[in-house]
Amino acid sequence: MRGVDGVRGCGIKGLGVSIPPVRLTNYDLEKMVETSDEWIVERTGIKERRLVTPEMATSDLAAEASSMALEDAGVAPEDVDLVIVASASPDMLFPATACLVQAKIGAARAACFDMEVGCTGFVYALAVGSQFVKTGLYDNVLVVGAETLSRITNWKDRNTCVLFGDGAGAALLGPVEDGRGIIGAHLGADGSAADLLRLPAGGSRLPASHETVDAGLHYVHMDGKAVFKFAVKTMNSAVQAVLNQCGKTPQDVDLLIPHQANLRIIDSACQYLGIPRDKVVVNIDRYGNTSSASVPIALWEAVKDGRVNRGDFVVLVAFGAGLSWGSIAISW
Ligand code: UT7
Repeated sequence: MRGVDGVRGCGIKGLGVSIPPVRLTNYDLEKMVETSDEWIVERTGIKERRLVTPEMATSDLAAEASSMALEDAGVAPEDVDLVIVASASPDMLFPATACLVQAKIGAARAACFDMEVGCTGFVYALAVGSQFVKTGLYDNVLVVGAETLSRITNWKDRNTCVLFGDGAGAALLGPVEDGRGIIGAHLGADGSAADLLRLPAGGSRLPASHETVDAGLHYVHMDGKAVFKFAVKTMNSAVQAVLNQCGKTPQDVDLLIPHQANLRIIDSACQYLGIPRDKVVVNIDRYGNTSSASVPIALWEAVKDGRVNRGDFVVLVAFGAGLSWGSIAISW
């Protein structure tokens, strides 16, 4: 398994998801804010999204997806070396949601930490988690993207509440033959644009108070138009960057799995790249934007539907708060 350069390959050995039970359609939203199914479908491609029930939190979704990924990989919880949870909506500021997941799934031997890179979190976590496998330090690394965005959404703000959904996806990473699995990763960020997408209160800058709650500062705030422009540009450049790393072109891509934020963003980026729509996974109509969970849920669906075959060249790409972006190339 060890390549000539002293590192070994790292691939995805198992996948799992957690799709929460509550379905909220655009027609339901029409009764909550001044919007319409027609506007939401036309501007975003979203028809419905899934939400958690009141007693559920992010770690519950993450744990369900994780257990499924372990079963899919045939790996016992006690053999997991590391749990990384990417989330913009963790159970608490601390402890890390990864620790809560560890306890829920019985991965008692695992080291645990969270990563907060907004919607790019799962892609970042894959890049980071794979390093532990490639160096030989760990054999089984569980990477999870999990969100309960419904808890940080202002349900009275039509600019944001029509966009988001809850969910989780998990991947179990392990050694594969050199040259297969994750063969490229490109990560980036532009902190000078951090204000465009943020949850202003509840941290050290603006601790939670009656005033912050009254002003709705504990909810997601976003400049949608500016993020849209950034997203189209970034999806294009992040895919190009990882293709260059691998010596490939857009024509070599068998399947593109983009972050599901807006169908118009996906379509524009693919048009720039020249990647045809039948090579792109889209499920935003059913889940909305599930932030760090969107890429692993889409990947899981693609695998389940037989759209990914051994040897396929698969590219994952995401962007989000930070602002941040990342892409991963996989030889499946
Ligand atoms: O995961 C990463 C983070 N998020 C994103 O990637 C989101 C990126 N941005 C977007 O997807 C889009 O900018 C939105 C979907 C958020 C908004 O679409 P848009 O085409 O940029 O619309 P807009 O903000 O320019 O608004 C157009 C109009 C406005 O009315 P006026 O000013 O033209 O009269 C809005 O008030 O649409 C109105 N509007 C709505 N109308 C009905 C905004 N939200 C709604 C709504 N229903 N939910």
